Amino acid sequence: MARAAPSGTRIPFKSAEPAMSAESQALGAMSEPGLMLECEGVWKLFGEGAERFLDARSASVSLDDLHACGLIAAVRDASLRVHEGEIFVIMGLSGSGKSTLVRCMSRLIEPTAGRILFGGEDLLAMPEKKLIELRRHKMGMVFQHFALLPHLNVLGNVAFPLEVQGMARAERERRAMEVIKLVGLGGRERYYPRELSGGQQQRVGIARSLAVEPWIWFLDEPFSALDPLIRREMQDEFMRLQSMLRKTIVFITHDFDEAIRLADRIAIMKDGAIIQIGTPEELVTCPADGYVADFTRDIPRAKVLSVRSIMGSPVGSPAGEVPADARVQEVAMDVAAAGAPFAVLDENGRVVGSIGRDDVLEVLIGHETHA
Ligand SMILES: Nc1ncnc2c1ncn2[C@@H]1O[C@H](COP(=O)(O)OP(=O)(O)O)[C@@H](O)[C@H]1O
Ligand SMILES: [Mg+2]
Repeated sequence: MARAAPSGTRIPFKSAEPAMSAESQALGAMSEPGLMLECEGVWKLFGEGAERFLDARSASVSLDDLHACGLIAAVRDASLRVHEGEIFVIMGLSGSGKSTLVRCMSRLIEPTAGRILFGGEDLLAMPEKKLIELRRHKMGMVFQHFALLPHLNVLGNVAFPLEVQGMARAERERRAMEVIKLVGLGGRERYYPRELSGGQQQRVGIARSLAVEPWIWFLDEPFSALDPLIRREMQDEFMRLQSMLRKTIVFITHDFDEAIRLADRIAIMKDGAIIQIGTPEELVTCPADGYVADFTRDIPRAKVLSVRSIMGSPVGSPAGEVPADARVQEVAMDVAAAGAPFAVLDENGRVVGSIGRDDVLEVLIGHETHA
């Protein structure tokens, strides 16, 4: 899953790294190559005596137990691992604990129990000063209802986190201009937030969070408040950005379609617990329970199934070639229209199988008969 190095070197910034303490640079040492963030048995209970409650019942805690004690279980025993360069989506209905979990990941909220490692370092044991530095230099955050600073223009808003870092004006404005262009707002840098549409304001938020070249990028329902058409446009834009930046991303959404479109892997949350973690393909083909199956039922299989998952043995004289990692939907028209099967190639260009009209039609039609 690891597809990129941890630093932000792929972002087109030519400037030197911002000044950092030796402590924060030491974060470069990862416990396991490719692992950026790890949560293990994370709990967040709201209410009096939450810690005592958990200490007393380490084995199994039911929702009824919690309820009886007047505690709200926002996150229950969540474990997950996010790899470098991965888009890890956390999906769940409103109130399922997504925001609380992502806030625990940056320790904006103190978990009641559990372990969180960032770049191999124990986040929960980190002194406050180091934690603040980590957030400033290594974490980018975008929230659904975030506040742009109304008295600052686009340039000022995007440069703001760099100003907080202590970067000199000319330097921070130069870098801010680069990200402003990157998110498609070039020419609007002197506009004030009130002069921008909702989608444009969200782009400013995205640019601002990218200005510091974060190692990890937390996006909590960044597009949920936007109209469906704009939302789609922003999703495309986001994927375009990610194809250049290859950030490690934790993306939160309550929209399963959005999750499928963006995710390398998805964690499904319900009542504070993670029900299943898998690729879109795994969730659609092997839902862990009826709850997950309900989300996946209306997803066209051709959208999530890979060519690899349905291919047959290689054949002679193929009509063309398709990549094994392509979604069936992407190749369906070509394959269905051809007289002979297509060769399936792996990432090294080796023939690993074939896919024909019947294979494709089965996926396309099979969905409707299952639904
Ligand atoms: N500060 C808080 N105090 C008490 N309960 C909270 C607090 N923050 C969140 N909750 C509760 O925790 C649960 C999960 O909330 P949240 O993480 O915001 O869910 P989501 O982001 O999935 O909508 C909800 O029941 C919510 O009411
Ligand atoms: Mg939320």
